[in-house]
Amino acid sequence: MDYIVWENLGPGTKLVMNQLHYGGLLFMILAYCYKIYQFFQKPAPAEGTEARGSHNKAIFYAYLTLAMPWEIESQKNHWFRYLEFVFFHLSMAMGIAFAFVVPIVPDVMKNPAVCIFARIFFGFGFLIGISRLFRRIFFAEMRKISTPDDFFCLILLSLWMFSGWFAAPLKDPTWLLIYYCMATFFLFYVPFSKISHYAYYPFIRYYVGKHFGHRGTFPKKKVAVMHKKEQWERH
Ligand code: HEM
Repeated sequence: MDYIVWENLGPGTKLVMNQLHYGGLLFMILAYCYKIYQFFQKPAPAEGTEARGSHNKAIFYAYLTLAMPWEIESQKNHWFRYLEFVFFHLSMAMGIAFAFVVPIVPDVMKNPAVCIFARIFFGFGFLIGISRLFRRIFFAEMRKISTPDDFFCLILLSLWMFSGWFAAPLKDPTWLLIYYCMATFFLFYVPFSKISHYAYYPFIRYYVGKHFGHRGTFPKKKVAVMHKKEQWERH
């Protein structure tokens, strides 16, 4: 199969790729600006006690914990899930990059190494998305904490990754159209979904850091476990 000739793409595909997609991006940016404006309208939680630790150190730590799996119990004990999380997000980054870079420099995908690289991440994204979806469906403890949006996002993102696998070689206009329809839908949908977590993340981690830093529990301290007898003698 030959590479897609950009000028020969159908009017529907051109409309989605060149207009609707950027319209969606503008909508998403405006929606987040409004949400962030709303955040700043609310008074920040205030502490009524004397600080037991450093706010700044704790805030810095709170931002970095995502990159320090050994600091979080669940990630330390389930390193495979942590790797899943990392690769899932790298795949999302690949999906976003593909959606915005390809209309500007489609020739980049003609490089076989770039194409294989993109497909590897689309493949990972699809498989991890499906595995996470299955866990939410079949594990009772996961099902209990899952909302319809959790399922919807995982189904849609997995399908998006699936379409990316076929769209990446830029040889099939139908898969390219499917890929861009989904990418465009996301731009309109994410401000209302859990995927917004990336926009809220800096705010949440700031307050988590400040709160636990105030109590002196962030950054986590290594406390030597005392022998029972030693504890008894201290008291
Ligand atoms: C700065 C960017 C981002 C940060 C810091 C971030 C962080 C996180 C964290 C901490 C989790 C929970 C991890 C877990 O359940 O194991 C998560 C889950 C998730 N993230 Fe992100 N994320 C980011 C960007 C994105 C983007 C751009 C997307 C999609 C386009 C996305 C989609 C998801 C989804 C669907 C889940 C839930 C997975 C599930 O239900 O199992 N994230 N993210």
